[in-house]
Amino acid sequence: MRAAVLEEFGQPLQVQEVELAEPRAGEVLVRLEACGVCHTDLYTASGADPSGYAPAVLGHEGCGIVEQVGEGVRDVAAGDRVVTLFSPQCRECIHCLSPRTNLCLAIRGEQNQGHLPDGTVRLSRDGEPIRHFMGTSTFAEYTVMPEIALAKVDPEAPPDRAALFACGLSTGLGAAMYTAGVEPGSFCVVFGAGMVGLGAVAGCRLQGAERIVCVDLSQDRLELARGQGATDLMVGGPDAVAEILEMTDGFGADYTFEATGNVAVMRQAVEAARMGWGLCTVAGVAGKGETLDVVPRFLITGRRIAGSSFGGVKGRDQVPELVRRYLDGDLDVDPFVSHRMKLDDVNHAFELMEAHDGIRSVIEFS
Ligand SMILES: NC(=O)c1ccc[n+]([C@@H]2O[C@H](COP(=O)([O-])OP(=O)(O)OC[C@H]3O[C@@H](n4cnc5c(N)ncnc54)[C@H](O)[C@@H]3O)[C@@H](O)[C@H]2O)c1
Ligand SMILES: [Zn+2]
Ligand SMILES: [Zn+2]
Repeated sequence: MRAAVLEEFGQPLQVQEVELAEPRAGEVLVRLEACGVCHTDLYTASGADPSGYAPAVLGHEGCGIVEQVGEGVRDVAAGDRVVTLFSPQCRECIHCLSPRTNLCLAIRGEQNQGHLPDGTVRLSRDGEPIRHFMGTSTFAEYTVMPEIALAKVDPEAPPDRAALFACGLSTGLGAAMYTAGVEPGSFCVVFGAGMVGLGAVAGCRLQGAERIVCVDLSQDRLELARGQGATDLMVGGPDAVAEILEMTDGFGADYTFEATGNVAVMRQAVEAARMGWGLCTVAGVAGKGETLDVVPRFLITGRRIAGSSFGGVKGRDQVPELVRRYLDGDLDVDPFVSHRMKLDDVNHAFELMEAHDGIRSVIEFS
């Protein structure tokens, strides 16, 4: 099959023929239909991520069709449409059994090393092993993944939009719906209007927030936020906190969300949260070694900070529910697909991302 291989950090991905072995016990062969291109792919390709490895097939925002299942696979069958989950859900570990977290423990160690759960790989080239990125490797015509990392979605879901639920969109939606659990009538502020921030705006709206302020540096992106339900748009900068305090009688917002990855903005999100009960949810990924600087008085006086990985979404149970809400017309996903392209143009998707051109590029197969 054809796949985009990260050969060397800082170099373009190389689209080439590689071999993919049959699925083993508990594994599934998926034929990719569509795959979004996310910052994490670029971050790893650039070499900035200290835990990255090569050679590897990148990609983690995939949607496709099950072609074949390995021994013991029960929950998906050939012909099912599935969304790939870099954050799996085994339904058995101590974290999966708790409603308080989505951080499944089942395969973390092997996944972080680029292996499938049994410690081996299915990808190779002339006998040389190639590693699986984030347990997904969806910049490829096919992938083999563990059953616990696939969400079976409605077969009517269009794959180019369903793919967005594999990472950024679900992260934003979930930050508002599951991590923060925004209450109806709330005052919310979302910093960042990329895929994650726009998802958080939509999540606040679905939860019945009364005011949703979106803060970004780009006017075009702020307009997209209005389409997702933002009631107020604000150009970011050093005055953002003061402006939010002014809008809230000096108290701050019930819920704030950070979706920029910038630690200075994370601090603003903490300081813009309401004294007494304001909850700041951090979804952005900071650079290596960066720290969040917070004056402890903000915490003593009742503000809380929560981190959110994949929006707290328990993938196999909740990604299908979020896709269902899209199909029911509760969510407008179409504006997020800015560019459609073939696998051969994956490096162009990285260039568009670096130029802040569009929300998501989606690779389409076939
Ligand atoms: N927690 C998770 O599981 C998870 C999943 C996916 C992505 N992420 C992270 O979430 C973050 C956002 O991802 P994205 O795909 O939406 O990125 P993006 O780059 O498309 O969006 C970030 C937005 O932040 C805005 N911004 C930058 N500086 C700002 C400032 N000072 N004030 C206000 N806005 C500012 C930018 O204009 C941009 O629109 C990234 O750090 C990404 O790595 C986390
Ligand atoms: Zn991602
Ligand atoms: Zn688990």
